[in-house]
Amino acid sequence: IEEMAESKYRTILEAKSGELEALKDKAIKDSWQPIYHIHPQYGLMNDPNGLIQLNGEYHVFYQWYPYGAMHGMKHWAHVKSTDLVTWERLPVALTPTEEYESHGAYSGGAIEKDGQGLLFYTGNVKYEDGSRSANQCIAMLTRDGSVEKYTHNPAVRGVPDGYTGHVRDPKVWKENDTYYMLLGAQRENETGALIVYESSDALQWSFKGEVKTSLPDFGYMWECPDYFKLDGKDVFVFSPQGIKADGHDFHNIYNVIYAVGTFDVESLTFEMEYYREIDKGFDFYAPQTFQDESGRRLLFAWIGNPDVDYPSDEYGWAHALTLPRELSLEGNELVQKPVEELNKLRDQAVHFRGTLKNEEVIIDEATNNAYEINMTFREIAAKQFGLELFNSKEEELRLVFDTEKQEVRLDRSSFHHQYATEYGVVRSEKWTASNEVDVRVFVDKSIVEIYINGGKIVFTSRVFPKKDSKSAVNVFAEGAVDYRIDYYGMS
Ligand code: FRU
Repeated sequence: IEEMAESKYRTILEAKSGELEALKDKAIKDSWQPIYHIHPQYGLMNDPNGLIQLNGEYHVFYQWYPYGAMHGMKHWAHVKSTDLVTWERLPVALTPTEEYESHGAYSGGAIEKDGQGLLFYTGNVKYEDGSRSANQCIAMLTRDGSVEKYTHNPAVRGVPDGYTGHVRDPKVWKENDTYYMLLGAQRENETGALIVYESSDALQWSFKGEVKTSLPDFGYMWECPDYFKLDGKDVFVFSPQGIKADGHDFHNIYNVIYAVGTFDVESLTFEMEYYREIDKGFDFYAPQTFQDESGRRLLFAWIGNPDVDYPSDEYGWAHALTLPRELSLEGNELVQKPVEELNKLRDQAVHFRGTLKNEEVIIDEATNNAYEINMTFREIAAKQFGLELFNSKEEELRLVFDTEKQEVRLDRSSFHHQYATEYGVVRSEKWTASNEVDVRVFVDKSIVEIYINGGKIVFTSRVFPKKDSKSAVNVFAEGAVDYRIDYYGMS
């Protein structure tokens, strides 16, 4: 155990000779590694951090533990892109070497100030008696992409009165010449909350108070908070822990909601109109958004869950980030659309059209599990219909539209490689049958992102098909339905 503790809190600077190369070699052998999603070369990634477009370039950082598929000493890894499609790996941005971050450089966001990036993160500190504290820290991101810690770190030492050591994940924005830092927190009575610091220069901060919401007792901790304006509303996004499953909602170990309403930053009062889960899939957590230079509100999230083991762990790497999604509000719904730059990934289109009547049709049986599907079902006179992905003789990921139950289900029960089954093998969402439904699917080896009705319902999930199985795409119907599919391989 001692040895394990020692290695768990080792920074990358303490790697033994040949150790990182060996990790790289092991991970690269895994055919479950995605080809167009951001993922670690080796080791474990979790939350997206410090999202910013600076000088035309998109910077994405992420939580990273180098030495295998486990949560240990967290660094900030760094990739950048000019088009949100092709990513270049840069040197590790933050290595936790200081006393104020002794057990990891935890999550946070970024802003632009005076032409450079300011990165905010939590210095995680654990004590021998099992207790912990948190310091809020700053680093500078220069235009050439290098990152340097602020010399006066930590910017905020410790946590305010009334909260436990669980205070983290700073998200900063500027409004009316004042900078605000939003943090996820746990009250001393072990309920989750959001707290705010303020500053006139983004460097020196003072505690302002707690956000007053109509959710005073909603789980025991709120992680990775975000706040932004979208289409005339104020939106909070956060990842509450300790919410019980209910109907179609909250089936993962931890879940993510967006809450829409009106926020008064002076009094910190949030008049909430409604809240919902962002993503209905099995593997989605800790999203973060940012506004890019063209004014789009973009979201990345971690495709994974904390405290869950994955089938690929044996290869010493874990997890990926979602594709970038552009957000908007339509009526009372959040809409998530994969950014249009992603069309660049497409090879030649193949079209499939037909009418199904109580049958199942294989539309492609030789996918290499890297493709996009853009499809519509029309003239719906079927009780159930849908799509099967990763279909071999033994396994399939089934997306079922059920007109009787008025729901859409994603079912991964048939896979040989199972995990997190204690949280169920089916996810679902309310779906109202109409004459037409559109479905857009991105498959990337062991990742699937499914966008229904233009991104109003989204399922993000991992699946680990048998290594030797050939995977087909099928459509099926119980009753009659027309389908039109545009299929794009990706290389
Ligand atoms: C969410 C989270 C954050 C924390 C980070 C540590 O997944 O627990 O609250 O900053 O991960 O890696």
